[in-house]
Amino acid sequence: MTRTLRASASACSNIALIKYWGKRDFEWNIPLNDSVSMTLSEAVTTTTVEWDPELKQDEIYLGGERVLDQRGLRVSRYLDRIREQYYRMHARVASVNSFPAGTGIASSASGFAALGLAAIAALGEGLPDEVEMTRWARRGSGSACRSIQAGFVEWVGGDDDASSVSRQLASPDHWDLRDFVVVLSRAPKAISSSEGHRIAARHPFMAARQEHLAARMLAVKGALANRDMATLGALVEHEAMEVQAIMMSGEPSALYLQGETIRLIHALRSWREDEGLPVWFTLDAGPNLHVLCEGSHALAVRRKLEAAAPRAELLENRPGPAATVHDDHLL
Ligand code: PMV
Repeated sequence: MTRTLRASASACSNIALIKYWGKRDFEWNIPLNDSVSMTLSEAVTTTTVEWDPELKQDEIYLGGERVLDQRGLRVSRYLDRIREQYYRMHARVASVNSFPAGTGIASSASGFAALGLAAIAALGEGLPDEVEMTRWARRGSGSACRSIQAGFVEWVGGDDDASSVSRQLASPDHWDLRDFVVVLSRAPKAISSSEGHRIAARHPFMAARQEHLAARMLAVKGALANRDMATLGALVEHEAMEVQAIMMSGEPSALYLQGETIRLIHALRSWREDEGLPVWFTLDAGPNLHVLCEGSHALAVRRKLEAAAPRAELLENRPGPAATVHDDHLL
């Protein structure tokens, strides 16, 4: 009887508090700088991989549909790396997201963390240790390495494939921080993050950013350790605006923010500065706002957001769990 080479895994997406924007090595996704994130409890990708010696090519199903475009190619190229190290057979891959596609939530982060874990688990030879799993996730999409661990995570950028790994800073129960994703647009990005990393790497502001980033990194880690929301919020907002400035002033320019994003930022700052509501924001490579507050203020923040953006979908995340292997197979 032949062994079934099949396994399933789930992983949460993550939101960067200190951003990865700009790579030093494009083949291995080695970033210009270290970054820090929170794992997002409500943005989960589940993936099943089945290695099959009968297959003549990979079969990739995303959200229940077979894909033959760029997305499928990217999955196959990733499987090629695993094949280089392990077997030469092809695979059937099925993957679903708990969150709607195109919401600006980094599905490549949860996607490659779940794919890497499922693909290696399916080989049936035991999983590599957690640190090696972060390397495998990062080889698919840089930010995916931070989706292997639970809670609050640091990606030590390193300078090559061996040294570029992520590690947990604090578990989910360390701090009841919330991240409301305010979904303002579902339109695809005009400039992909891969292209954005290239533009950023040659941006003249990047040298100045790198100079002060080590100090900001230390301050963010300190604020996380001390559960100091006001300090963390101010640092994270500043970081988000700095990265947006680099994005929009690059060559070519990546203007991810929309009018509605800016309108909500003004509203949020007025809730904080005029009404005393302890709320801050961050942004990713897209128009959707990530609104940060402590759990004790989550209801008040939700009400504000619902009133200010009644048509926007809200996704309320807590610090999420680690990526796991399980038996809820999609194939
Ligand atoms: O992992 P990538 O190549 O999709 O890059 C993602 C970069 C940002 O999401 C914009 C920031 C980050 O650190 O996650």
